[in-house]
Amino acid sequence: MKTSQVNKQVSNEMTSAGESRLERSGNITWHASQVSPEARADLHRQNAVTVWLTGLSASGKSTLAYGLERLLHDTGHASFVLDGDNIRHGLNVDLDFSPENRRENIRRVAEVARLFNEAALVVITAFISPYREDRALARRIIGPERFIETYLAADIATCELRDPRGLYRKARAGEIRNFTGITAPYEAPHAPEMTVNTGMLSAEESLQRMLDAVLPRIQMAQRCRAALECV
Ligand SMILES: Nc1ncnc2c1ncn2[C@@H]1O[C@H](COP(=O)(O)OP(=O)(O)O)[C@@H](O)[C@H]1O
Ligand SMILES: [Mg+2]
Repeated sequence: MKTSQVNKQVSNEMTSAGESRLERSGNITWHASQVSPEARADLHRQNAVTVWLTGLSASGKSTLAYGLERLLHDTGHASFVLDGDNIRHGLNVDLDFSPENRRENIRRVAEVARLFNEAALVVITAFISPYREDRALARRIIGPERFIETYLAADIATCELRDPRGLYRKARAGEIRNFTGITAPYEAPHAPEMTVNTGMLSAEESLQRMLDAVLPRIQMAQRCRAALECV
């Protein structure tokens, strides 16, 4: 299926009350860029992928996302973290934690990741993204060839013991509604591209494993960009 068809299907899925998106889409035109994804990858000397982290609260998403961003930067690769809490301060400030709004949260983030990837940036997302169906939607939006679903496997007991922000304590006390793992479900991936056992490994070990898996996907074979470089 072509990207434009996928997008149409996705936007139809998300049609809300009021003005029909189908109706609107009749009046808007897609303008194609004159710069191909391959040309951008060549210019930036990297293949853009999205490392999609998923796991319970306190499983290590933010720690590893920003750690990976730092390491990629140090190895000469441009990347950018989209972090759940940060995005909910701005772009998604209007969304709550109901299943519908969680889906819209993921859809918007996937669209942003797709744009960043098209601009040749590596993206690392740090969202609980608890529903398999929502992660499948993100995969369709971003494109399966760019999507690296990464399951941070730390069980609820470990995460609750860590509780770095005291959220589990609040959830147990009934002060937070729809809290993943306590009063809302978490659906672990069946076949993620990568699993990191953050419940057992240290943050440093986890980071190294992620870097080892991701770098080969980003690095491109040395090619001469301009004929002059080849003489
Ligand atoms: N292997 C690991 N990977 C990531 N974080 C770990 C690991 N082991 C222990 N931690 C600790 O667990 C906590 C994870 O918190 P955070 O990164 O904010 O999680 P999340 O963003 O998934 O809610 C941090 O305090 C971190 O130091
Ligand atoms: Mg976080």
